[in-house]
Amino acid sequence: MKMIDHILDRRSIRRYSDQKIDDKTIKTILTAAMYAPSAVNLQPWHFVVIDQWPIMERIMEIHPHARMLRTASHAVVVCGDLELQHDDGYWVVDCGAATQNLLLAAHALGLGSCWVGIHPREERKIAFSRLLSLPSHVLPFALVALGYPEEQKARPERFHPDKVKHNGWDTSFFQE
Ligand SMILES: Cc1cc2nc3c(=O)[nH]c(=O)nc-3n(C[C@H](O)[C@H](O)[C@H](O)COP(=O)(O)O)c2cc1C
Repeated sequence: MKMIDHILDRRSIRRYSDQKIDDKTIKTILTAAMYAPSAVNLQPWHFVVIDQWPIMERIMEIHPHARMLRTASHAVVVCGDLELQHDDGYWVVDCGAATQNLLLAAHALGLGSCWVGIHPREERKIAFSRLLSLPSHVLPFALVALGYPEEQKARPERFHPDKVKHNGWDTSFFQE
């Protein structure tokens, strides 16, 4: 499949089969995450891989929209390091790029995934930091649920020409 199709066909998948993801595949998608661009190439991220049911259960208690973990094989919490980031706030942007790389790599390898938001909700950040015993300079950014997909989703129409301007705000790039 072409790269562009991987990008357009990636969907949030929230139902997974019993099949477990092997460590080699986990390593491949984390490698993709670590190849994301980052400000001044500082790569201010860490990844916490979760595959233990009691921790999945605890996450479903502290996060209101993480029910997909019921069937997930693994979860990865993408974390940002305040001591490694380029300047105040860059960790968020860099972790966003890493998270998207992770999702796209998972899709390209036939996995289903779902981004579960943590940042910027303070109460979630505190709860995940406690649960995973993160040091104070490491902040949880997002959780990614992973598993072999048990649902399929069609590609929706999302291209909106009116969102694209030409050399400034007043003119459209795409004329009707
Ligand atoms: C910052 C962010 C937070 C999200 N949080 C959740 C979440 O808590 N639970 C969930 O099921 N999906 C979550 N999603 C997934 C979105 O619902 C999903 O990306 C969106 O509906 C578009 O669908 P698609 O991913 O299939 O293209 C989140 C996505 C982003 C980017």
